[in-house]
Amino acid sequence: MKVLVTGVSGYIGSHAALELLRAGHEVSGFDNLSNSSEEAVRRVRELAGKPLAFTKLDLLDADGLKTLLAQGFDAVMHFAGLKAVGESVEKPALYRRNNVDGSRNLFEAMQKAGCRRLVFSSSCTVYGEVKKNPVDEKHPRSAVNPYGQTKLDVEDMGFALSKKDPRWKIALLRYFNPVGADPSGRLGEDPRGTPNNLMPFVMQTAVGRRDKVRVFGDDYPTPDGTCVRDYIHVTDLALGHLAALEKLDSFAGAEAVNLGTGHGRSVLEVLAAASKAAGRRIPYEIAPQRAGDAAAIWADPALALEKLGWRAERDLDAMCADHWRWQKDNPAGY
Ligand code: WQD
Repeated sequence: MKVLVTGVSGYIGSHAALELLRAGHEVSGFDNLSNSSEEAVRRVRELAGKPLAFTKLDLLDADGLKTLLAQGFDAVMHFAGLKAVGESVEKPALYRRNNVDGSRNLFEAMQKAGCRRLVFSSSCTVYGEVKKNPVDEKHPRSAVNPYGQTKLDVEDMGFALSKKDPRWKIALLRYFNPVGADPSGRLGEDPRGTPNNLMPFVMQTAVGRRDKVRVFGDDYPTPDGTCVRDYIHVTDLALGHLAALEKLDSFAGAEAVNLGTGHGRSVLEVLAAASKAAGRRIPYEIAPQRAGDAAAIWADPALALEKLGWRAERDLDAMCADHWRWQKDNPAGY
């Protein structure tokens, strides 16, 4: 298929583009490069040994989107968006404009071009306060921060689109915590400034860019007191997108699917696995709880297996080994 990848130079977008090319799809992509580097696109081309047409473009450029979509694509994989939970609390209007209005621009351009097959990068954040683990797709949705609200709003846009025009086929993929990197060590997570997320902070500490990891709370009602999350290898995540793309015809309009491993791991377990991968102790201190953090959330992955014929295959050691290889080979990122 001829696929357009939005946010193609980002962490998830670049890994998805690589797996699409490896599977024989024709890939074009765009990005506004606000939080990523075009070097990632160059490396995807190098790793796949195939072309990837790149355009620097912003989701807020409605005319630019119409021009690009007029080239004709079979499907769109939509990753472009702002994704820092803390920043979304400080700048809710920016997140609404970029993530929601931007996605609306994209969907209008798709409709105009007659392209109605969409795989959207949603998030487990839409589940808000977790009532019961593991979380399945029937768990009620609620927003606990502006970032989560934008994901929820774009999902609702997808449901409305397919209700209005049943020709739309939309996979709303709710990821848990993406970590790791392509085993080549050439692609990886390269956040601008201080990483919000655990794994990049841990690996930047291991490589000497940070002094120590602050563990946000060890007094949660969990086995070792630290928060539990469902960490999933970014390559498994990318392959989940590929599986969704290839199964879109079986979708009844817009449908949500969790992409997780089904296993919860604590912050201290991640630190131990990362230390093993890096072959060194990673200094850390216990700090106060971070506002907004849930004690524990992990996925029920059953629907993804049933609907997409996909399950995560890489364990936490593989996630840490691959993430470490990226960080060691690219200490300053791209
Ligand atoms: C994981 C755990 C922290 C940093 C968010 C988004 C989610 C998705 C992934 C986009 C928590 C602890 C973290 C640190 C720590 N993003 N931690 N010290 O908050 O589960 O999920 O990122 O889709 O939508 O909500 O991920 O990596 O920030 O935190 O102790 O320096 O690590 O308290 O328990 P989170 P995270």
